[in-house]
Amino acid sequence: MKIFKSKHKLQKEILNIKNISFVPTMGGLHKGHISLIKKSKTFKGKNLVSIFVNPKQFNRKKDFTTYPRNLKKDLALLKRLKVDFIYLPTHKDIFSFRPRNKIFIDKFSKKLCGKSRKGHFEGVLNVVNRFLEIINPKYIFLGVKDFQQLYLINKHILKRKINTKIVPCKIIREKNGVVCSTRNNNLNKNQFNTASNVYSYLRNIKKLIKRELYNIDIINIKKNLIKLGVKNVDYIEFFNLNTLKKPKNKKEKFKIFVAYYLNNVRLIDNI
Ligand code: PAF
Repeated sequence: MKIFKSKHKLQKEILNIKNISFVPTMGGLHKGHISLIKKSKTFKGKNLVSIFVNPKQFNRKKDFTTYPRNLKKDLALLKRLKVDFIYLPTHKDIFSFRPRNKIFIDKFSKKLCGKSRKGHFEGVLNVVNRFLEIINPKYIFLGVKDFQQLYLINKHILKRKINTKIVPCKIIREKNGVVCSTRNNNLNKNQFNTASNVYSYLRNIKKLIKRELYNIDIINIKKNLIKLGVKNVDYIEFFNLNTLKKPKNKKEKFKIFVAYYLNNVRLIDNI
C-alpha cells in the first residue's frame, strides 16, 4: 500500500497504469466503504482509495467540523484490505488548479437533498471532477445509498465525455437495518435504535404504497416518523428510478427517498 499526499507524486506513479479502479471517500470508513473497496478489487488493474473531507459540499460549517474523522483507523483498515494506492490530498492539492471540464449540473440536483442543502451537489461535482482529472481512473465506485449523487456524477461524466465508468454498488445495512453511514458515528444508542425503527416503518410503508398508490398521506407518514423520535423530516418522496417521477401505476418499481434529523445528525436512505 502506497500513500500519496501530493497529486504530482501520485500521477508519476500511476501514469502508465491503464486500469485504475477509484473509490473516493471522505474517510470514517465503514462496511459500505469496505464493500466498495472489495468490489473494486475484483476488477483488473490497481485500486486507489482517496480520503478527503471536502469542505465545499457541506452547506453548514458545523456539519463539516463535526463530520467523523479517524484517519489512523481508516489507514489500518485500508492496509488490511491490501489497497494499492491511497491518496490523502490537501485542500491546496485539489483546489489550486483549473480543471479542464466545467461541472455539469443536471436539473435533478434541484430535488431531494438539493432543496435543503444549497450548493451541496455543486461541491460534490467540483471535487469529483478534479479527482477524475488527477487520477483518470477507468472505473469509479459509488454507493447507491447516495442515489442522487451517483445519478448526478453519471450525468456529468456523460455530458463531459469523461472516460470513466461508474460502478454502482449496493446499499449495505447494519444488522438492525440502518444504512451504513459515517454519520452513524455521531448517533447515540437510542438514536441508532430510532434509525432502525424508521427503517422498519418505511419498509412497511413501501408495502402499503404498493397496494394503495393513490391514497398515501405523506403528512401522516411524517407525523408518525416524529412519533418514532425523528426531530425533523427534511423530505420523504417516492420515485420511479427510471422516470424520476412518482409511480403512476402499481406495477412500476419505485423507491422511497428520505432525509431526516435525529437531533442534529442528518441521515438519508432510499428503500
Ligand atoms: O460520497 C462521498 O463520500 C463524497 O460525496 C465523495 C463522492 C467522496 C465526494 O467528496
